[in-house]
Amino acid sequence: MAKRNKQYVCQSCGAVAAKWAGKCESCGGWNTLVEEIIEVAGPKSLNPKSGRAIDLVGLAGQDTPPPRRVSGVAEIDRVLGGGLVPGSAVLIGGDPGIGKSTLLLQVVARLSKAGRCAYISGEEAIDQVRMRAVRLGVTAAPVELAASTNVRDILATLDAADGPDVVVIDSIQTMYVETLDSAPGTVAQVRASAQELIRLAKKRGIALLLVGHVTKEGTIAGPRVLEHMVDTVLYFEGERGHQFRILRGVKNRFGPTDEIGVFEMTEAGLMEVPNPSALFLADRRDDVSGAVVFAGMEGTRPVLVEIQALVAPSPFGTPRRAVIGWDSGRLAMVTAVLEARCGLEFTGRDVFLNVAGGLKITEPAADLAVAAALVSSLTGAASAADTVVFGEIGLSAEVRAVGQTESRLKEAAKLGFTRAIMPARRKSKNAGAGLNAGLQIEEIGQVSTLAEKFLAAENGASVRRLAKPH
Ligand code: TYD
Ligand code: MG
Repeated sequence: MAKRNKQYVCQSCGAVAAKWAGKCESCGGWNTLVEEIIEVAGPKSLNPKSGRAIDLVGLAGQDTPPPRRVSGVAEIDRVLGGGLVPGSAVLIGGDPGIGKSTLLLQVVARLSKAGRCAYISGEEAIDQVRMRAVRLGVTAAPVELAASTNVRDILATLDAADGPDVVVIDSIQTMYVETLDSAPGTVAQVRASAQELIRLAKKRGIALLLVGHVTKEGTIAGPRVLEHMVDTVLYFEGERGHQFRILRGVKNRFGPTDEIGVFEMTEAGLMEVPNPSALFLADRRDDVSGAVVFAGMEGTRPVLVEIQALVAPSPFGTPRRAVIGWDSGRLAMVTAVLEARCGLEFTGRDVFLNVAGGLKITEPAADLAVAAALVSSLTGAASAADTVVFGEIGLSAEVRAVGQTESRLKEAAKLGFTRAIMPARRKSKNAGAGLNAGLQIEEIGQVSTLAEKFLAAENGASVRRLAKPH
């Protein structure tokens, strides 16, 4: 006989505890444990005779998979790996107000021209969604709109042979399954709602798009479990003050995970940015020290972005180290290498590092550009405006080779740069003369060479300033 039992589930990380506590053991969140009733079936071993045998089949199938649904919004199609896969579930996370609802309404408006699309809003009333549609200029699109939070009703609507092909649920945290006691937004409800919706999507071949809220820590609210249940997880991110928005894949069963889509939030919705480098470099001034252009890669696409550093005398005993858009651990490593191996002094100085435009860089190839920006700010010598920098730095101050050199150089040449400071390439690769993309290449083997360049560029006064912080 089934026995009712209690467990306590953390609403922020999904950890399960047997006893209630004020603090979650797993994520350290306060007051996040909520009671849930679990149905426990009594121990009973299964009798193999009572089951039905399932078919075991080979890997090569006869049927061709159904075609992907291409939205025509190139930035999202690329992140998805070439469009939406029928029968799959995509979770889109992001801070409130970042533009998730806007993006999805624009996408379904495009897709509705080729198939039936439903947009189910649990957060906004029909009129509010309509107002947004007016603003986006998509009122003519045949999107089927509903405002509902009851999963049973939603399933009844969608579970028809001629039902919609694409369904947006905005957001999964507002949905609830009546048979559960917990309130909407709790882990149990979110998990049960997602499970039901995903099951239907698989059965009917629906491409399901779920909006998920994120917590203060930046992960999708409540459930890590949700990330395991869906096929694709995308994050929509950006700084609130900036107009750029970046769609980033973090899990994708049907495509790459390192691609990004870049959008600009305008008065009339999100616009695609086919050439992000031009946008990220738009406000650049070329005569300031501490600013260096990094030739980076985001998935298959090269992205040029400005790295800004400010090294200033600190009024505090413990100088500050602040980083926006890069990893603070990596910054600590680069400053340590510059201090220990190149004789530069960061003690007693605050260090601020910023990736302009609100982009977040994860590539180690940014090391050399960061080092150049730091040295430039420290010495007061501006980096040449026509130069891009990239390369990974090792702990012994060696500059290591990075991938996709050619794409980086080509993008730099396209945007009018004429010089590149980069790691030494292997001889065999260097053989072809066309690989330089018309750029003047300066290969650097040691970080100290880079530091010396800046020191040489600046006159004696700043070198003295370097030796004696004030
Ligand atoms: P929204 O899509 O509601 O965000 P989310 O669903 O992620 O919470 O976006 C809301 C923000 O976008 C809001 O601050 C206004 C802004 N916005 C524009 O700047 N232009 C537009 O055309 C639209 C529709 C919204
Ligand atoms: Mg919204």
